Amino acid sequence: MRTPLVAGNWKMNGSRASVKELINGVVDGAKAINGVDIAVCPPFIFIADVVAVTEGTNVAVGSQDASTELKGAFTGETSVEMIRDFGCKYAIVGHSERRTLYGETDEIVAKKFGVVKNAGLIPIFCIGETLEEREQDITEEVCARQIDAVFAAHGENAFEGSVIAYEPVWAIGTGKTASPEQAQAVHAFIRAHLAKRNADIAEKVQILYGGSMNPGNAKELMGQGDIDGGLIGGASLKADDFLAVCAAGQ
Ligand code: 13P
Repeated sequence: MRTPLVAGNWKMNGSRASVKELINGVVDGAKAINGVDIAVCPPFIFIADVVAVTEGTNVAVGSQDASTELKGAFTGETSVEMIRDFGCKYAIVGHSERRTLYGETDEIVAKKFGVVKNAGLIPIFCIGETLEEREQDITEEVCARQIDAVFAAHGENAFEGSVIAYEPVWAIGTGKTASPEQAQAVHAFIRAHLAKRNADIAEKVQILYGGSMNPGNAKELMGQGDIDGGLIGGASLKADDFLAVCAAGQ
């Protein structure tokens, strides 16, 4: 059986003071939660403060992005080695906001996926269709294309030890959630698509759902056979809400 993973993506939110309060609340409440992997992904500049609180607890930390490059003259970038050095376990790659607002192509995301894995970090690889693509009925095609870019760059076993987050773009920050049936159908497709290359790895990969997941819908979503947790935006900014989503994974 796969252990569920609930990861909070804080995006570009918080102040030094509010982050301290949030992470203290999360760490405190997480003590009562068993059988669920828990992670938070703060903005880069807060990672050190957050790790200082999470060290030795059951809350892991991830970055929201990583550079394709390993070191050198890349102003504004943060390397995987730095991310690992500061105590992160995960790195989100290919979030739809990076893809749409910062022009990250499937190839760029695939490169990030590789450097993250090579650094010994666990990529949380985000995929998903826009509203327009769903209306054109090409959701599966889009997800397959995004996944296949990683296979093309890193081979048949690329997804070993990695996490996938299915985040329909139309459900992100909109309050519109995919129904459990809609989400499960795509998750099952993703797993079957992975299984064409390696059935064993496909069975082990945690596939998270992301897009307006909250305490009210988390249990039903995570109750689906192929939904192994969540990548939580808005609801991860309040400790109580985030912890309620984590508890729903138990
Ligand atoms: P929301 O939970 O705010 O919809 O965000 C989801 C998301 O983008 C997580 O990465």
